[in-house]
Amino acid sequence: MRLSLRFVLPLILVLTGFAYAVSPLVDRMILRWFTRDLDIRAVLIANTISEPLFEQLAAGRKAKIGEFFVRITQDERLYAIGFCPGGEGSAVASKSMPAEVRCNDLERWPPGGENALPSKRGPLHVSVQPMANEAYPAGKLVLVHDLSFATRRSEETTRYIFHAFIGLAVIVSLLTVVIAQLSWRGWLAGMRSLLRGEGLLRDPAAAAKMGLPEFRPIARDLQRLVRDLEAEHRARDESQMAWTPETLRAILHGELRGDDVIVVSNREPYIHQRRGERIEVQQPASGLVTALEPIMRACSGTWIAHGSGSADREVVDRHDCVGVPPENPAYKIRRVWLSAEEEAGYYYGFANEGLWPLCHIAHVRPIFRSSDWAHYVAVNRKFARSVVAEARTKNPIVLVQDYHLALLPRMIRKEMPEATVITFWHIPWPNPESFAICPWRQEILAGMLGSSILGFHTQFHCNNFVDTVDRFMEARVDRENFTVSFGGKSTAVRRYPISVDWPPDPALLAKPVEQCAADMRALNNFPAGHRFCIGVDRLDYTKGILERFRAVERLLELNPEWIGKFSLIQVAAPTRSSIDEYQSHEAQVRALAIRINERFGRGGRDLPLPIVLKVEHHDAGQVYEYYRAADCCFVSSLHDGMNLVAKEFVAARDDERGVLILSQFTGAARELPEALIVNPYDTDQCAAALHLALTMPVDEQRNRMRLMRGLVAEFNVYRWAGRMLLDAASMRQRSHLVETGGGAA
Ligand code: F6P
Repeated sequence: MRLSLRFVLPLILVLTGFAYAVSPLVDRMILRWFTRDLDIRAVLIANTISEPLFEQLAAGRKAKIGEFFVRITQDERLYAIGFCPGGEGSAVASKSMPAEVRCNDLERWPPGGENALPSKRGPLHVSVQPMANEAYPAGKLVLVHDLSFATRRSEETTRYIFHAFIGLAVIVSLLTVVIAQLSWRGWLAGMRSLLRGEGLLRDPAAAAKMGLPEFRPIARDLQRLVRDLEAEHRARDESQMAWTPETLRAILHGELRGDDVIVVSNREPYIHQRRGERIEVQQPASGLVTALEPIMRACSGTWIAHGSGSADREVVDRHDCVGVPPENPAYKIRRVWLSAEEEAGYYYGFANEGLWPLCHIAHVRPIFRSSDWAHYVAVNRKFARSVVAEARTKNPIVLVQDYHLALLPRMIRKEMPEATVITFWHIPWPNPESFAICPWRQEILAGMLGSSILGFHTQFHCNNFVDTVDRFMEARVDRENFTVSFGGKSTAVRRYPISVDWPPDPALLAKPVEQCAADMRALNNFPAGHRFCIGVDRLDYTKGILERFRAVERLLELNPEWIGKFSLIQVAAPTRSSIDEYQSHEAQVRALAIRINERFGRGGRDLPLPIVLKVEHHDAGQVYEYYRAADCCFVSSLHDGMNLVAKEFVAARDDERGVLILSQFTGAARELPEALIVNPYDTDQCAAALHLALTMPVDEQRNRMRLMRGLVAEFNVYRWAGRMLLDAASMRQRSHLVETGGGAA
């Protein structure tokens, strides 16, 4: 309203001023028209009265002429009339003839001139008409017209014009304001959708519908500028930042103003297990937990997860919460309880027999059962209810983890539309053809597209996801900005390569490398000088453990000098053991280890076995000892989102020794090219890599390890989480800007 007044008042003033300016011109023009009319009238009167007038003149009847003139001047407009003879004879005039009009001075009133004569009565007009007749000498008829009617008309006209201008000013102003308001709203809507990352650029049809095609170039430039500024700002900040728990805390308290942070995952970071009289606390073998645990310590938020431990219920409070880490609580776990049927359908069934093989190219067929799907939906809903219960505000930041909870983002959005949901998919995303196998592919995609930000480890997985959405969903995909708009909501698809804690916990590095090597040799009965490689995995068919064993076998075939002098220690944490595929995989792994050990084993001599298989859970301290003691670490995954074992091995080697053999099918291979990159299906190549690792000069080991350590140091897990939180912060700031911008308009 204020904006309208600011615009309308000046416009009215300008138009009024204009009306004032033109009114004298209009006056003069009207006067000129009337003067011309009076001249024509004078000619007419002169012609009309010439005959009777000359008759009277010829007859010398002056009195009659006087009466005649009086009659004529009864005309409303004719004020005075007179006759000036050309030769002899006296002039005759009505009494009203002004004194200024004299027969000897008639040149003052030329034909066609303005001939105005002011008088008390008002302005007069003098017109002189020559008259001739055969019976009487020529003379001049003088007609004085009353011009006051013309002045009155002119005033009326001016008033009319003035009002017309005012009216016009108001109409023009109102029209302009209405049009301006409409355009401004449209422009704002355009800008808003632009800032939200939708609209003009991504949907030219929508822009055209809004009638704003002309804004598209501006929008594009503006968007590019904002992106460049953000990228520049971030690049500058990121390169200068040391990414530590303090950095994360600073982001949370600065950029996010202490907003509510909730992590949701299936696996909990601490599991309470009953062992007879005691309750033991276990940390699971999980890349997800390895990455998120240090973040939660830094952020002191809430972690919602399935309470899977046998003593989990015994230690929680009445809200199902427990403070962790147990020795020094820094954040809380809220446990979600699942029945055995729910766990079987949701976790073992849909998540691990369906989605897990679907997303990993390990040539294991996914199994999809509708009963599993029903449990998957119900359990996701259960998690959503816990998120709502735990949220302290209506717009928390919720970090949803992994393929167990694909439906959760949309469910959260439905309950809390203002929440910022960041979903991270820890496993690979397959190509559209592979994903199409899933009978509930649309529901899964729609669920994930409830996220504000959707993260994958690699750009390749982001591309696969966006291609899949493009293929199967009625969604708008913007490949320039990597966003997907679905159901009126935009999701940014981003690459966030996960990493490990850096610098690692000093307790894990406390035992010197030499001591670790000596202890590990003693533990495994290896003689002095015996070389060994380490493999650390969950006992999962995607990890390429069979392929790794075959590589060892091939090494011993091709390089028999290593027989009895080299071993592979395989630490294999039991996992998902109630699934048939995992049981049969474990059986295959055990059988292959036995076969190779029999083939290249002791043979009567007291030699170490080539494969030492440890199917049991190891804690972080034990695993670190193996990393620090080993000559090499062999990661041979057939398909892996990232693989944190590779990064942990690098982080553990502060002596800059040891060689990493890394599958090309891991996300980590894109970040650690100084590793010996192998194709796990190529047994000869893997065997050659093992030989190369065992014979690599110390200098080369150091050079490679230094580069890899530099990468892990720079891109640690705090940076992984920090980048997601910073993206969430700018997203929240942008939508705040749009909201407040809307208020001002
Ligand atoms: O790799 C996917 C993942 O969820 C990891 O994040 C984690 O390391 C692993 O699977 C653990 O699986 P589970 O929770 O089934 O033991």
